[in-house]
Amino acid sequence: MQDTIKEKIEQLNEKFDKINQNTETHLEGLLWAKPITYWDYIQTDALLNLQIQRTTLPDEMVFIMYHQVNELLFKMILWEMQQVCYNEAPSTEFFTERLGRISRYFDMLTTSFDIMKDGMEPEQYLKFRNTLTPASGFQSAQYRMIEFASTDLINLIDIRYRAGFDTAASYPNTLEHMYWQAAGKDYYTGEKSYLLTEFERKYKKEFLCFMEDYSDKNLWKKFKQLPENDQKNPELIAAMRHYDKTVNITWVMGHFNAAKKYIESVPGNHEATGGSDWKKYMLPKYQRRIFFPELWSEEELKNWGE
Ligand code: HEM
Repeated sequence: MQDTIKEKIEQLNEKFDKINQNTETHLEGLLWAKPITYWDYIQTDALLNLQIQRTTLPDEMVFIMYHQVNELLFKMILWEMQQVCYNEAPSTEFFTERLGRISRYFDMLTTSFDIMKDGMEPEQYLKFRNTLTPASGFQSAQYRMIEFASTDLINLIDIRYRAGFDTAASYPNTLEHMYWQAAGKDYYTGEKSYLLTEFERKYKKEFLCFMEDYSDKNLWKKFKQLPENDQKNPELIAAMRHYDKTVNITWVMGHFNAAKKYIESVPGNHEATGGSDWKKYMLPKYQRRIFFPELWSEEELKNWGE
């Protein structure tokens, strides 16, 4: 037997000994294991069976699939965030490299938004959207998790209540004051819409755990744990600012412009499927959602999203 094969068997023995397993049984199993194929590994059959239209309009498929592509990229982003945030002491090199990955994914979402904006016939959109009411991308849980994992919770609090707000005092109260609550609450009575009530019914518990978990390990906290000199590195600062701007201005404006095009493509009722006061709610200059405010000048903060 070749020395390299012997060596591998010794390594396998070592591995299985540690978990009280018999190497021979596992080798026997290998004899009968099915060789892997692309479709089994990538799960193409499952993946390509998830596009179910509610109408007969062909452009609804574009809408469903582009949202699914977004959710897959959100998952890739969260995956990388987890690698950085759960690393007790990430090196500057590791932090920078992973931030690069996260940014590239969000750049992809931003630069591809025209697929949505120019890729559907407004006449078709206006028909199939009626079957989606009252659902909205607002109810994307991964999008909220990306926010929680990016910054301190205070930066996500509705700007009207942000000054002096203590996010650690009560996570349920903090959740209640997130900037996005404004999209689902009656401005005068504070009553929650069905969109928001259902969203919270499904995800509130998960969000509360996630918020607490990332309160001491979000991207900003990890950045602040890097050696002080590295925190001043111009390239790293530029990368942090790029991520902040891409998520909170460029993507938001791409999304806003697409929404505007479709919702306003007919005269009359310009209500969104989720029912928010969307024209105001969705603009960065009103939301003032900024992940890393310390990395922007006073002037830049003042003109955020202008
Ligand atoms: C024609 C396409 C689209 C239109 C017309 C549209 C419209 C809207 C509107 C009006 C809102 C505000 C809440 C509401 O009342 O519904 C919203 C929120 C949202 N949408 Fe979309 N959207 C579109 C595509 C997308 C895509 C492709 C995604 C990707 C997942 C997405 C994700 C979101 C998210 C995350 C929010 C919440 C944003 C926030 O809280 O700032 N949307 N959308």
